[in-house]
Amino acid sequence: MPDNPAIQGVREAFLAQFPAASSDQALKALHDAFLSRKSGQLTALMKTLSTLAPEERRDFGQAVNTLKTEIETAIDEKRAALEATRQPSGGVDVTLPGRTLPMGRIHPLMRVRRDVEDIFTHMGYEILEGPEVEDDFHNFEALNMPPDHPARDMQDTLYLDAPVAGGTWGAHRFEGGQRGTVPEAQVRAATLLRTHTSAMQIRYMKTFPPPVRIIVPGRVYRRDNLDRSHTPMFQQFEGLVVGEGITLADLKGTLEAMMRALFGEGVKVRLRPSFFPYTEPSAEVDVSCRACGGSGCGTCKQTGWLEILGSGMVHPAVFEAVGYDPDKYTGFAFGMGMERVAMLRYGVDDIRLFYENDLRFLEQFPV
Ligand code: DAH
Repeated sequence: MPDNPAIQGVREAFLAQFPAASSDQALKALHDAFLSRKSGQLTALMKTLSTLAPEERRDFGQAVNTLKTEIETAIDEKRAALEATRQPSGGVDVTLPGRTLPMGRIHPLMRVRRDVEDIFTHMGYEILEGPEVEDDFHNFEALNMPPDHPARDMQDTLYLDAPVAGGTWGAHRFEGGQRGTVPEAQVRAATLLRTHTSAMQIRYMKTFPPPVRIIVPGRVYRRDNLDRSHTPMFQQFEGLVVGEGITLADLKGTLEAMMRALFGEGVKVRLRPSFFPYTEPSAEVDVSCRACGGSGCGTCKQTGWLEILGSGMVHPAVFEAVGYDPDKYTGFAFGMGMERVAMLRYGVDDIRLFYENDLRFLEQFPV
């Protein structure tokens, strides 16, 4: 009975409409048109059963059921295919918000370093680094501090090759009592961890002729115990400018421009007379206290000022040590602590925080 013309007609009608039904609604309409109990075409076919001869009824009924299964299967499969295109990743909800990954930040010291480098690059300076392991000549002697110079005691040096009698490899304190007893040649031969970036002034001037305009950021080391204002390693910026006719006014103007760029237009700068062996005259530089605006508070010990760097006009003896003509050239130099700038800028009251890598601290700074 599968070739019964009435059944064939219904089958062909379905096959003609099926390809165009490509939405849930269209499939539902097709389903209703053919399979609905009340008005479906297959129901109508079944109703003709009673008009057939009894021996034909069984085959006819079976053929109608086969067609019914065929239509149901076709509709169900297409529905499933439609559903699958709506969820291409196999059940993953693509509308969920993504997982956020933890984001790194720029370390506050690196922020300060980049800002200082930007300020001076715009003023035409060259930025360079130098070795952290130094010798006595660059760190002391050429900076007008001969072996018995008392200014060496201003900084407690970490020696790699101790200039003390019987000294062994390692970090040794240059004890006051032993200083006079150590032969000069031995003192001069010492290797050490640089105590300041000023050593790089010497290396640069020995290598290049004037004019000089450099900034040297880098690590320096001193025999200090850890407390809220000391770490045995910290970082500095050295500045050096040498040329014909460079004056103290150039130093002051440069420092003021730097402080305004670092701390804002309103900051005040003052120079106080001081002493460094490698500058004459020497000046310590203060900026107005940001915490109180200069009226006096705990941060500035009621003075309204905060010391921020050492500076001065390059001493003629330094020019002589590097082979520059002190009658022809003048220059200024300064040395500034990177942590000190960051502490003032961000209101940090303990230097150790910069080196503890505590995310609770680091996450407070901008990305
Ligand atoms: N080297 C000094 C220090 O570490 C800082 C300093 C002072 C650097 C005066 C200079 C300078 O270039 O002229 O404390």
